[in-house]
Amino acid sequence: MAILVTGGAGYIGSHTVLALLERGEEVVVLDNLSNSSEESLHRVEQLTGKTAVFYQGDILDEQCLKRIFDAHQITSVIHFAGLKAVGESTRKPLEYYQNNVAGTLVLLQAMRDAGVHQFIFSSSATVYGTPEHTPLVETSRVGGTTNPYGTSKLMVEQILQDFAAAEPQFAITALRYFNPVGAHESGMIGEDPNGIPNNLLPYIAQVAIGKLEKLSVFGDDYPTADGTGVRDYIHVMDLAEGHLKAIDHITEGFTVYNLGTGKGYSVLEMVAAFEDASGRKVSYQIVPRRPGDIAECWSDPALAAEKLDWRAKRNLNEMMHDAWNWQKNNPQGYKK
Ligand code: NAD
Ligand code: WQD
Repeated sequence: MAILVTGGAGYIGSHTVLALLERGEEVVVLDNLSNSSEESLHRVEQLTGKTAVFYQGDILDEQCLKRIFDAHQITSVIHFAGLKAVGESTRKPLEYYQNNVAGTLVLLQAMRDAGVHQFIFSSSATVYGTPEHTPLVETSRVGGTTNPYGTSKLMVEQILQDFAAAEPQFAITALRYFNPVGAHESGMIGEDPNGIPNNLLPYIAQVAIGKLEKLSVFGDDYPTADGTGVRDYIHVMDLAEGHLKAIDHITEGFTVYNLGTGKGYSVLEMVAAFEDASGRKVSYQIVPRRPGDIAECWSDPALAAEKLDWRAKRNLNEMMHDAWNWQKNNPQGYKK
């Protein structure tokens, strides 16, 4: 009995693989390494003393999926694989729809052929578009996504809903992550973006270590307490543990959960918290708003607490401390 983790060498995937191995699960990883390195899995092995079976391959490759389902007794699939850079998705929409939407279709067909019926999907708070109200609950209006990446997540959710309705033996859960940050407490695995980071936390960490000169804060004229954008940041290990709970409590049909903390922090609060945790100065300048950004977004995580028995446990200081620990121990990420 094994769990197939697509995208398991990536940021959230590697932390989830670690949590799965730690509780004694057999894990098979499929990743094409387009945005990751096998080194993350070697580090997971060092940390846990256990090995995930690794296939370097693509979710779009039917034959590869068939080989995996034939070779292992897979009971469930956690599907992280996909492309995730918002800006890049506007320049390469076909690649994003191909990987994220078509890739998921190929995977679901292979699961149906193999008789594997439990599926956990990495969705995103981005499906809510511009929130009508906060906190966001799972029944809040979705839509109005402003880039192909976000639209691809929304499309997959719609496909999953239709598929679950047509195939009642399937149990499908979509987890809408808010803003994942931080790293495993060991500092051995973490987020390793290619090039200049798009997301706030890796950017701040690279300023703190001296790789980047200063953070550009995208707008201080939002209708928030200090004018900068507010988000619900969640520790990646809390997120990883959310997947274990989602597997334990999976039910037939299609179900959606928010995975967030329920608290919002502004960009300037994040800078101050990182400075506190790292003891380093984070220089910044205020620049105009980034197109497509929203003012504020945070979750109501009550449904996951009630149905999955899951709550985020780690606070902002732990997120910052662990992000810094990873950054300072691995200034070049996995590349060395
Ligand atoms: P990541 O890029 O670190 O991990 C994704 C992994 O999938 C990478 O290892 C990549 O090599 C692999 N991959 C991509 N396309 C593939 C393909 N066609 N076949 C096989 N492997 C493929 O990203 P992450 O931050 O760990 O995100 C994991 C999932 O969570 C993604 O689906 C992402 O959209 C979603 N998500 C991420 C965030 C976030 O802010 N990090 C927020 C919400 C949702
Ligand atoms: C957070 C805040 C920025 C960088 C994105 C995706 C979303 C999800 C998570 C995958 C905002 C501000 C950022 C910088 C800044 N990903 N910021 N300077 O935009 O909430 O969400 O990642 O599903 O789909 O859209 O996250 O980390 O980019 O930004 O001022 O250099 O930090 O304006 O207020 P975001 P982020």
